[in-house]
Amino acid sequence: MENNIFNQVAKRYDSEKQIELAKIIVDEVRAALQNSKSKTLIDYGSGTGLVGLDVASQVSSVLLVDSSKEMLDIAKEKISRKGIANSKVLLSDFTEAPPELKADIVLMSLVLLHIPDTKKILQVLFRILNDGGKLIIVDFDKNDQVSHSKVLNGFTHESLKKTLSEAGFKSTKIKTFYRGKQIFMN
Ligand SMILES: C[S@@+](CC[C@H](N)C(=O)[O-])C[C@H]1O[C@@H](n2cnc3c(N)ncnc32)[C@H](O)[C@@H]1O
Repeated sequence: MENNIFNQVAKRYDSEKQIELAKIIVDEVRAALQNSKSKTLIDYGSGTGLVGLDVASQVSSVLLVDSSKEMLDIAKEKISRKGIANSKVLLSDFTEAPPELKADIVLMSLVLLHIPDTKKILQVLFRILNDGGKLIIVDFDKNDQVSHSKVLNGFTHESLKKTLSEAGFKSTKIKTFYRGKQIFMN
């Protein structure tokens, strides 16, 4: 856990820049969550809940899952301060301990690039979903100018589509919905 970079950055994660980006993501996720009032949602890699807690009113329940305790502590504090009754947190890394959980929707915002084995986590998330469930991934388009030992440099639509299909997903829709300056590893 001490090596977890997100534990180290948790207290400064909700920067102005990050909140701005989260708002853009929330707008897009909201559109994908129309008519989901009866659905359960897992926000995998929720961090401080910048996205998951902002869409909580659109679903029946939200489980914020993250492998960083420090990020979740901040999410927990927001849940109690804002009185968000349908949301809770779970400290877990599904790549290490496959969960005994089910959900109608899994959301993954800016997380996939932090998990080295893309296919493995997508397979785990596929198994979590109830029949007819939906996985919403928000991540960066591939950027060859980004190079980091622990972070993938984004995804091409074609390769992500292929990996999703190999993981079991029957239909995929992928689009680029925002282009910003210096948002991906600056
Ligand atoms: C860039 S943050 C995104 C946070 C939030 N989803 C957002 O959009 O603001 C990535 C988050 O993924 C979490 N994470 C990275 N690898 C993970 C894993 N294998 N299992 C669970 N969470 C993970 C990190 O702890 C961190 O909170």
